[in-house]
Amino acid sequence: MQNPSLLEIKDLRGGYGGAPVLHGIGLTVESGSVTALLGRNGMGKSSTIRAIMGQLPRSSGAVRLAGRDISELGPHKRARLGIGLVPESRQVFRSLTVREHLEVAARRPASGTGWTTDRLMDLFPVLRKRSKAFGNNLSGGEQQLLVIARALSTNPSLLLLDEPTEGLAPSIVNEIAVLLRQLTREADAPAILLVEQNLRFALSVADRAVVLVSGEVAYDGSAEDLSGRRDVQQSLIGVGAA
Ligand SMILES: Nc1ncnc2c1ncn2[C@@H]1O[C@H](COP(=O)(O)OP(=O)(O)O)[C@@H](O)[C@H]1O
Ligand SMILES: [Mg+2]
Repeated sequence: MQNPSLLEIKDLRGGYGGAPVLHGIGLTVESGSVTALLGRNGMGKSSTIRAIMGQLPRSSGAVRLAGRDISELGPHKRARLGIGLVPESRQVFRSLTVREHLEVAARRPASGTGWTTDRLMDLFPVLRKRSKAFGNNLSGGEQQLLVIARALSTNPSLLLLDEPTEGLAPSIVNEIAVLLRQLTREADAPAILLVEQNLRFALSVADRAVVLVSGEVAYDGSAEDLSGRRDVQQSLIGVGAA
C-alpha cells in the first residue's frame, strides 16, 4: 500500500456554537511539501487550521496525521504528535527574550538534535543578533520570524502558518519568503500548510495551492498552475490579492 499522506482531512464539517463554517473540507499535505491555503477573508482558512489543531468543534469528518486518526484528540496531544502552530495573533511574550522564547517551548526528538536554538539562529540570523531583546522590543517581522522559530523548536512534522505576512512591509515579506524557502531546503524541514491572503508571497513559497470559498474547497492544484490561472485568481481570491 502507498504511504499515507502526512495530513489528510476528509469531509470535515464544523463551526462555532452550532453555526457551521466548514462544509466538507477535503485536502492532503504531503511530507516535504508546502501547501498554500488561500481564499478571501471569512472563507474558513483559520477555521480549517483550528480544526486541524483540535480547536474547532467538528460535526463530522476526519483528520489524520501520518495515517493515524487524530480527530478525537485535543490540541496538546496533537501538538505532541508533531503539529506546530503559528496562529494569526503572534503571541510573543513581552518580557521574554528571543532566546528564552526558543528555549521554553523546545521539544527535541529522542534521536539526533533536531531544531536546536543554535540551528534556529543559523536559519534566521536576525534572531541571533536580537537574542537578548525582549518580545515587546521586536519589529513585526522579527516577531513573525521568532514565532516561526518557536514553532520549529518543538520539531514538528507539520507546521501550520496562519497569515505570517499580515501587516508586514513588502520588503519584510520578501525576506520571509527567502527564509521560508531556505527552511524547505533543509532535509528535516516540516511540511507546511500556509494560510495566506498575499497570493504572490504564497505562490513563491508553495508547491501546491488549495482555495477555499465559503468553507469548501473550490480549487486544488499545483502552485505553478494557479500562477498561470488569472481567471481562478480573480474569481476565487479577488483581484486585489495579487
Ligand atoms: N470565534 C468565532 N465565532 C463565531 N464565528 C466565527 C469565529 N471565527 C470565525 N468565525 C466565522 O467563521 C467564518 C470563517 O472565518 P475564518 O475561518 O476566520 O476565515 P478566514 O481565516 O478565511 O478569514 C466567518 O464567517 C467568520 O465570521
Ligand atoms: Mg483567518
